[in-house]
Amino acid sequence: MPTFDYSEFPTLRTERLVLRELRGSDAEDLFAVRSDPYVQRYNSVPHTDVSESAEMIERLTELFAKHEWIHWGVALRENDKLIGLYSLGWNEGHRRAEIGYDLNRAYWGKRLASEALGAMLAFAFDVLEVNRLEAQTIADNHESTRLLRKFGFQLEGVRRGYSLEEDGEFHGGAIYGLLRSEYEGGQA
Ligand SMILES: CC(C)(COP(=O)(O)OP(=O)(O)OC[C@H]1O[C@@H](n2cnc3c(N)ncnc32)[C@H](O)[C@@H]1OP(=O)(O)O)[C@@H](O)C(=O)NCCC(=O)NCCS
Repeated sequence: MPTFDYSEFPTLRTERLVLRELRGSDAEDLFAVRSDPYVQRYNSVPHTDVSESAEMIERLTELFAKHEWIHWGVALRENDKLIGLYSLGWNEGHRRAEIGYDLNRAYWGKRLASEALGAMLAFAFDVLEVNRLEAQTIADNHESTRLLRKFGFQLEGVRRGYSLEEDGEFHGGAIYGLLRSEYEGGQA
């Protein structure tokens, strides 16, 4: 049986990052991520005021308290600045989880997203003992699909014409999955 029971927030550490509980004081840094129209182009409407980011932190913190989702603030180890938000929704009964991830655009292309995802995958497979991880992403969100493929996620299907995005176009919704056997097979 998995050892995780939500009694304590699962802080994860990597070489350059700490994935930790969100705090009210992260609101400005979260706003920098969530107000960027390019980061948000396949996600919810960009925040226009920091109060929306502050409310979001409260909402996400409650989801952890209700044992519904884990949302990690991705912060730089050197100064604790929040540069992203990673999430995992765990279905214990079916031993699967869904993940989400985004990073402040100033930190793209530095393999920080990969570093954070590696830590989240290890937590999911080793601590939660999931059999399957799933990510839903817009099919032409190339930065996102590149990250998933790098970690061995397989494209399982595309829901055609799935969502109407900011560009006024309908986009396909892709489902990517990674099974425990594939994850373990890909480990060094
Ligand atoms: C998805 C996201 C987190 C990826 O971040 P990232 O900074 O590109 O990730 P990384 O730096 O770890 O790079 C991942 C891979 O892409 C490659 N890559 C990154 N930028 C690249 C570029 N400009 N050109 C070519 N390859 C690039 C990296 O080299 C790496 O592969 P490698 O280690 O095999 O070389 C980021 O684009 C993001 O926040 N997007 C907006 C939010 C979003 O859409 N989230 C998903 C919603 S479901």
